[in-house]
Amino acid sequence: MYSLIKPLLFSLDAEVVHDGVMSLLEFVARNKTLLELTKQFCTVANAKLEVECMGLRFPNVIGLAAGLDKNAKALPIWAALGFGFLEIGSVTAKAQSGNDKPRLFRLPEDNALINRMGFNNHGASVVAARLELWQHTHGTPKIPLGINLGKSKVTPLEEAAQDYLESLTKLWAYGDYFVVNVSSPNTPGLRSLQDRAPLEELLKTTTGFAKSQGQTKPICLKIAPDLTWQQIDEILEIALQNGLGGIIATNTTIARDGLKSSINQTGGLSGEPLKARSLEILRYVVDKLEGKMPVISVGGIATATDAKERLDVGAALVQLYSSFIFQGPLLPKHMAQGLLEQI
Ligand SMILES: Cc1cc2nc3c(=O)[nH]c(=O)nc-3n(C[C@H](O)[C@H](O)[C@H](O)COP(=O)(O)O)c2cc1C
Repeated sequence: MYSLIKPLLFSLDAEVVHDGVMSLLEFVARNKTLLELTKQFCTVANAKLEVECMGLRFPNVIGLAAGLDKNAKALPIWAALGFGFLEIGSVTAKAQSGNDKPRLFRLPEDNALINRMGFNNHGASVVAARLELWQHTHGTPKIPLGINLGKSKVTPLEEAAQDYLESLTKLWAYGDYFVVNVSSPNTPGLRSLQDRAPLEELLKTTTGFAKSQGQTKPICLKIAPDLTWQQIDEILEIALQNGLGGIIATNTTIARDGLKSSINQTGGLSGEPLKARSLEILRYVVDKLEGKMPVISVGGIATATDAKERLDVGAALVQLYSSFIFQGPLLPKHMAQGLLEQI
């Protein structure tokens, strides 16, 4: 079915299609009959797929990566589509419209996307109110909910920690885990928050807040694929010192190695061209952490075999974004079935 409508979808502007599909998913999510039908058709419930990580129970290891449902518009649909967990966001303290359009590009020859969205989102207060409303109408999410936090563009880098703290405070009641995202390439200077001094301040502030709440919810850090090994060593040291819940590796890349497409757009590259680097970073991080902290692997994961490879290397969970765009809504189901066969 998806292969039939894909040529039409791919002939239209990528963000127009994204917004249209999100509206459709929101419609299904709000209709309990359609939601139940989707669940019946798309989920693979099997105890063999369940895992425990960061003190949370996951029905399967396949998660929706941050950026697709930034504003929690279609929250209950992701469990019904067979995902084992989801990450909303990035959410920033202040609502913002992001960069000028066009800012999302498909590279079909490479099974890849380039985006420079720039954290377009409704802001922490509005997203918190929406999560509250979903709780009223649909109960707590059926799968663990991660909330990914970014820095508001108007906030100077020196005040970043307070900006993240504002979002964390507003959204604390609703997430099962939180992600400090300092690795998107589309907010000026954001990646410099991965440097020692700002990162120490940021993680001290956010984990300090978690501790003040009884440390019941893990805080993770999402890192870029363009870091040097030395930078990664430093980041892991700071992550361990601050008792983070986990590392998410990786965000999109600014590298353009080996692309078949001749497209020349700035922004973060995701999908198949990111696969090798994301896997390389996973190996390195798992090796360095020696089991002291779980790693969630993301970047170029498109099949059950890809997911199994990440788990074999030592990832606790995986996430995907680009492959969902290229393969359609049955991907989580097919991956879960594939994983079951390989377990
Ligand atoms: C259009 C788009 C928007 C994204 N927005 C975010 C975001 O807001 N926050 C974030 O942490 N990652 C964001 N990402 C990165 C993804 O979560 C993921 O790390 C990256 O795409 C690599 O995974 P993939 O190869 O499966 O797509 C975005 C990716 C895309 C393609």
